[in-house]
Amino acid sequence: MASDQQTTRATADGSVAADPQTLTVTDNRTGRTYELPIEDSTVRAMDLRQIKVDEDEFGMLSYDPAFTNTASCRSAITFIDGEAGVLEHRGYSIEQLSERSSFLEVAYLLIFGELPTGPQLDRWVYDITHHTFVHEDLKHFFEGFRYDAHPMGMLLAGVGALSTFYPDAKHTDDPEERYMAAVRLIAKVPTLAAFSFRHNMGLPYVYPDNDLNFAENFLSMMFKKTEDKHVPKPALSKALDVLFILHADHEQNCSTNAVRGVGSSDVDPYSAVAAGVAALYGPLHGGANEAVLRMLRRIGSVDNVPGFLERVKNREEKLMGFGHRVYKNYDPRARIIQQHMGEVFEATEYNPVVEIARELERQALADEYFTSRKLYPNVDYYSGIIYEALEIPTEMFTLLFAIPRTAGWVAQWMEMKDDPEQKIARPRQIYTGEREREYVAVAQREGDEKIVGPPARRPKRPRRGA
Ligand code: CMC
Repeated sequence: MASDQQTTRATADGSVAADPQTLTVTDNRTGRTYELPIEDSTVRAMDLRQIKVDEDEFGMLSYDPAFTNTASCRSAITFIDGEAGVLEHRGYSIEQLSERSSFLEVAYLLIFGELPTGPQLDRWVYDITHHTFVHEDLKHFFEGFRYDAHPMGMLLAGVGALSTFYPDAKHTDDPEERYMAAVRLIAKVPTLAAFSFRHNMGLPYVYPDNDLNFAENFLSMMFKKTEDKHVPKPALSKALDVLFILHADHEQNCSTNAVRGVGSSDVDPYSAVAAGVAALYGPLHGGANEAVLRMLRRIGSVDNVPGFLERVKNREEKLMGFGHRVYKNYDPRARIIQQHMGEVFEATEYNPVVEIARELERQALADEYFTSRKLYPNVDYYSGIIYEALEIPTEMFTLLFAIPRTAGWVAQWMEMKDDPEQKIARPRQIYTGEREREYVAVAQREGDEKIVGPPARRPKRPRRGA
């Protein structure tokens, strides 16, 4: 509300704010001036609502499609400084965590806020390890998928289905239910991911092996054949564990926003995390590393690198795995992956795409076109190459992202549930359609005769099966 002096403070109780940190806004439609409190370099969108021409008007909204400049929450989990190339979880740098920690320890840190003590870590690892099995009915559920079902679609369905196995998870304020949901999700997503792959390959499912660590167990469930025990080479399981750490959380991205948004309806955490899996499935989010590999294979040889970069500069191609919405510097995660590449390639077969990737990066970083646009390698530039060295098929790459990100989704979901400022997420819209039209009976309707349906000459896709 504007005061008689045509100036107001935007505090909820109408009192005068003592804080000099304010933004003065003048509405030129009315000439009224408003002072909006600034906190953390932010103004509250609700403080705009008082700005109106007529008293009975709804009030001013902020418009921000794709949330490019809107903070949706306060969070103490992950800090990113994109200009400086800094990534921290709960205050610990990603460099320290990837060098000294393990994925399960980082998962604990994200969810509970502190690094665990020895006994806390033992208990956490024990609990995760002893919840990796899924109900046999879930196996039967997976058998209903077509042989060539995309494993990410299967994972999405499987995570959603978990909610039906643990109906008590709907008691989202019960600390025990929350803990069990966190444990079960982190423990069972790798099992569901590996089962999806085995189904796709027409291979029998491999049950979890409690003697193995988190990354080893996943590789065992993926690749075990007739041997009694499948213990992957330490260099490979270590590299995978580091990749899991690097993908554990990345603050308010598309899938985390989906988990928070769906979770805000107070649905159970399995359903909320299934929304995160769905968001990650999209090629703009979880699929870039697959695109990097396709690009490198297309380039084919180191000799073709200059020609490819010319095509990028002519905007005929995109340099996949370069550039980031937030990082305008070397993505710290890409640097860490690079440090582990040597060990992985020593333990695996030679892959020519590595040479191409290194030369492509070298030439791009020496080129003004890329440096002036602050285009540096992002996490996806090298992660796909490591996955390929681990013999993980490209269709599984996004699942390799979903496994560790589950820890971040759970941490963000819990933080959202405990935040007294949060309620059901419900954005506003600017309505652009018709109003107050009079219904016309079908026989009396006139106008465009165009029949709405699929384009007439759309090439027919061959149908499979019944
Ligand atoms: N190759 C060539 N040119 C590029 C690229 C690229 N990969 N990325 C950005 N540019 C150019 C872009 O054309 C623009 O040039 P100009 O100003 O002359 O028009 C300039 O750089 C700024 O780009 P932008 O489109 O404003 O940047 P953005 O923040 O909207 O896009 C991005 C970020 C990640 C979508 C984009 O860099 C991209 O498409 N990269 C390739 C895909 C990729 O690697 N994605 C994985 C992201 S990391 C995964 C994660 O953290 O979740």
